[in-house]
Amino acid sequence: MASSSLPGPPQAPPPASAKVKVKTTWPTIPPNTDRKPIRTERLLLRPITATDVEAIYQLRTQPEVMLWTLLGTVDKDVDESRAFIERFLSPKDLKTFNFAVVYLGDDDKSENADGVLIGTAGVHKILPESGWAEAGYMFRKEYWNKGLATEAMRALTKAWWALARTEIELEVDAASVEKRGEKSEGGVMQVPEILTALIETSNIGSQRVLEKAGFKEYKTWTEPDSRAGFEGRTATLVLFLLEAPDS
Ligand SMILES: CC(C)(COP(=O)(O)OP(=O)(O)OC[C@H]1O[C@@H](n2cnc3c(N)ncnc32)[C@H](O)[C@@H]1OP(=O)(O)O)[C@@H](O)C(=O)NCCC(=O)NCCS
Repeated sequence: MASSSLPGPPQAPPPASAKVKVKTTWPTIPPNTDRKPIRTERLLLRPITATDVEAIYQLRTQPEVMLWTLLGTVDKDVDESRAFIERFLSPKDLKTFNFAVVYLGDDDKSENADGVLIGTAGVHKILPESGWAEAGYMFRKEYWNKGLATEAMRALTKAWWALARTEIELEVDAASVEKRGEKSEGGVMQVPEILTALIETSNIGSQRVLEKAGFKEYKTWTEPDSRAGFEGRTATLVLFLLEAPDS
């Protein structure tokens, strides 16, 4: 997420969202070692490894990319990139479903084609504001506006929904349920699982990616901008949701 509106006085954080307990499903996320790489027309999505640190550092030192993250600033050294990667390595891989995105080019369709790591895409956390899983992505600026993030997200969400699932009870943002026409009739309501994504309202490119991957906007609010260099400003955030297929 990121970018800001006009400078203004610091504001209090927004009031906590109303929560509701629901019955839904949750995936069993396989460890990196058991994940099959996901092949698309031009990309390979494969588990992130510790040896990706240099390539991730290259990605995360592009100011144009990092502007749109919660931090808003580039990694100051390779150790910060290593800390980022560790969020997706064992044993944390069981809680996240994030991938290195490798560009294989438009021509080489072989499974073993060499490629360059151009970004990351996947489910990188459970979003505290909503209770649901959150998807995210970032791509090297040289590769923007070629449809690659959309290609990655379509494949990633397909793989996400294909994971085995179990029934769980979850406390989620009430708006994520009400906006889908679900009504509580006493007891805990059963709702189809969703995947969410959070953007800053001026991140038009990211918004387009979500729309093209089938996500729908469901909630907007303004809060103090969290990014370095944007102190005293506000950011307007938009939550998107993607419903499980056939729900
Ligand atoms: C957001 C990001 C992943 C998009 O990647 P990408 O590979 O360029 O995305 P795609 O090419 O699949 O789609 C981008 C779409 O946005 C459109 N777009 C991009 N910038 C735009 C702008 N300023 N105004 C209007 N449309 C814009 C493109 O035209 C394209 O839409 P189209 O296919 O309808 O023409 C990439 O810009 C990025 O990594 N940004 C920095 C990190 C980031 O913002 N991550 C997401 C945080 S929520």
